[in-house]
Amino acid sequence: MTMPIPTLLTRDLLQVIDLSALEITQLFALATRLKADYSRFAGTLSQRSLVMLFEKPSLRTRVSFELGFQKLGGGVVFLDHQSSPIGARETVEDYAHNLSRWASLVAIRCRSHHLLTRFAAASSVPVINALSDLHHPCQALADIFTLTESGIAPADLHLAWVGDGNNVCISLIETVATLGGKITVVTPPSCRPSAELLRVAQGRSARSGACILCTADLDAITGADAVYTDVWVSMGEESLAAEKTAALTPFRVDRALMERAGSKARFMHCLPAKRGEEVAAEVIDSARSIVFDQAENRMHIQNALMLALLKNDVAAQASPIARTTMQS
Ligand code: CP
Ligand code: NVA
Repeated sequence: MTMPIPTLLTRDLLQVIDLSALEITQLFALATRLKADYSRFAGTLSQRSLVMLFEKPSLRTRVSFELGFQKLGGGVVFLDHQSSPIGARETVEDYAHNLSRWASLVAIRCRSHHLLTRFAAASSVPVINALSDLHHPCQALADIFTLTESGIAPADLHLAWVGDGNNVCISLIETVATLGGKITVVTPPSCRPSAELLRVAQGRSARSGACILCTADLDAITGADAVYTDVWVSMGEESLAAEKTAALTPFRVDRALMERAGSKARFMHCLPAKRGEEVAAEVIDSARSIVFDQAENRMHIQNALMLALLKNDVAAQASPIARTTMQS
């Protein structure tokens, strides 16, 4: 039996909204198959190469992309900001034109989402957002996939975000807006997600029937399937640390807050976490916590995504093994 690889309308994945509900559902199905057994996909991406350009530190994203791509038979080159700063020795566009001549796919972690869109516009190979200041799409896809694994249908999901309305928050909002369900975003007024990006997500939710609620009222998390938080100070926002910490201290996820959510609520965090700041150790280290399931699933959902983005490339020069596996 062959495993269908989704055909995506988008060439790049810069934000979740680039994907339709059907495409996300198909990626989840493929991630499930990959997670169960990689053997039938071994060698599918042989002769393919992933270049990773990272302007910010990473553990999970770097390792899950590198080991994931290798599991599919491809080769990986990692370029960090120290050795190869994007746009320093040459323009962003020249950088993209060069990499397009060697790489099959580029994954970028950058300080400015604007740089990512410039790079993608100049690149002739697919580009994946591995985190920007505005979005973290691979994280959010892995997170909602993780919740579906525990039997929650996206349309029935109630996800509560508590803390800073940051890049991970926006990508989760876009995912729920696309798939349906409810997301309650509880932040102090000064830490609300970008109004412009919220408008885009609201437009998507009008079609899916999703509910996006932004509030400062912690009682709104009652009945949630999961409570999700992230660091108060994201990478690149260090100058805002004092201001954000002051605003967000009442929003720390501790045992009392989890009890407010209810007994079924799981705890989620994209990691890295700061115990004693945004989350109490007794919560993140409790049986309710699914943070390492989220981390593991980064690799499976990213692999599903990379197979889909490279589907046409592999089909064009298909080896017998790749043709059999990629056939849809
Ligand atoms: N969650 C996440 O993206 O982790 P890293 O910053 O370690 O990649
Ligand atoms: N919001 C965090 C996520 C880290 C994975 C950051 O951007 O630093």
